[in-house]
Order: sequence, then C-alpha cells, then structure tokens
Amino acid sequence: MSKSTVNFILNGKQIGPIAVDQNTMMIQFLHEHLNLTGTKFGCGAGICHACVILEKTATGHVTHRTCINGVGSFNGKNLMTVEGHARIDVKTQELELHPVQQAFIEHFSFQCGWCTSGFVNEAIGYYESLKQNPVKKSELRSSIEASLAEHVCRCTGYVKYYEAIEDLILSQPELVR
Ligand code: FES
Ligand code: FES
Repeated sequence: MSKSTVNFILNGKQIGPIAVDQNTMMIQFLHEHLNLTGTKFGCGAGICHACVILEKTATGHVTHRTCINGVGSFNGKNLMTVEGHARIDVKTQELELHPVQQAFIEHFSFQCGWCTSGFVNEAIGYYESLKQNPVKKSELRSSIEASLAEHVCRCTGYVKYYEAIEDLILSQPELVR
C-alpha cells in the first residue's frame, strides 16, 4: 500500500512526521494510532457530521469531517479534537471546560452523546468567530441554526443545543451587536 508522510499540530502537540497509508481515514488514525476516541463515527458517509474536528486557521476556524477525509489531507494543519478544549487550572488542578462544553452540560443538551463531540467542535468554531465578528442580536438564533444545520442528533431535537449556545452568547455582550 502506498504511504505518505504527514505531520500536524493536534491539541497543541506536534504529531509526526509519520508515514501513513494513504487509505487511512483521519478518524481511524485518531482512534487507532493516537488512542483519541472522543471523535465519533456515525454515518461514515459525510452526512451526519458527528465526526468533525476543528482546524484553527490564520483567519478563524473551520471544521472537517474525519470519516471521509484521509490523514494526508490534514498535513500541516493546526487541529483540535474534543479532547483538547478543556484546561487544567494550574493553581487548583481542577478541570475547566470550554464555555461551550459547560453550557451544553448545564442545558442538558445531549442524551446518548454520540453527536456531541461534533456539536462541540462546530459550536466552538462559531463561538470563537463571534469574538472577531459579533452577530446582530436580532439574527442570533438564525445564525446559530445555520452554523449547526449540518449536524444530526437522533435524541434531543436540537433545541437544547441551540438554547445553550444562545444563552452563552447573550451572557457575553461583546459577542452581539
Ligand atoms: S460519521 Fe462522518 S459525517 Fe457521519
Ligand atoms: S444526543 Fe444522541 S445523537 Fe445526539
């Protein structure tokens, strides 16, 4: 099988250079080579978006589906998976979730959780984008729905996800205009 050499930043750590089979999908690499199983395999066909991870770019954030994109397509990128968003407080040694993760928990946004890592990554990308480009308050709900429209959830009907993000953003006046 033909191989290519890849290297990228993942959750702040350098991965590679490492030779990988060109047919290896990114989700398989995350699960089997890096032991990062928080990214979930749903449809496997690029539809449900359960498997998305986040890329930090020079101009913002974009998400990528890992079930249909090979490891090689991530070469040179700066990536985050769901495992990378929480922080340990150096003083207290307590885990601090990203505000989006905390909001999802406080709003009981998920049930089985299979879709959650995808929602977390998409919503964090959206939330971070508002720091550069605040949204009109009157357009907030439609903007949230548009940002998460491709994510499928079989359990909760989406409302709690949307409400969680809306409440989080409204609690930070600098994110709306
Ligand atoms: S598992 Fe990747 S889009 Fe559904
Ligand atoms: S919480 Fe079960 S699929 Fe979304």
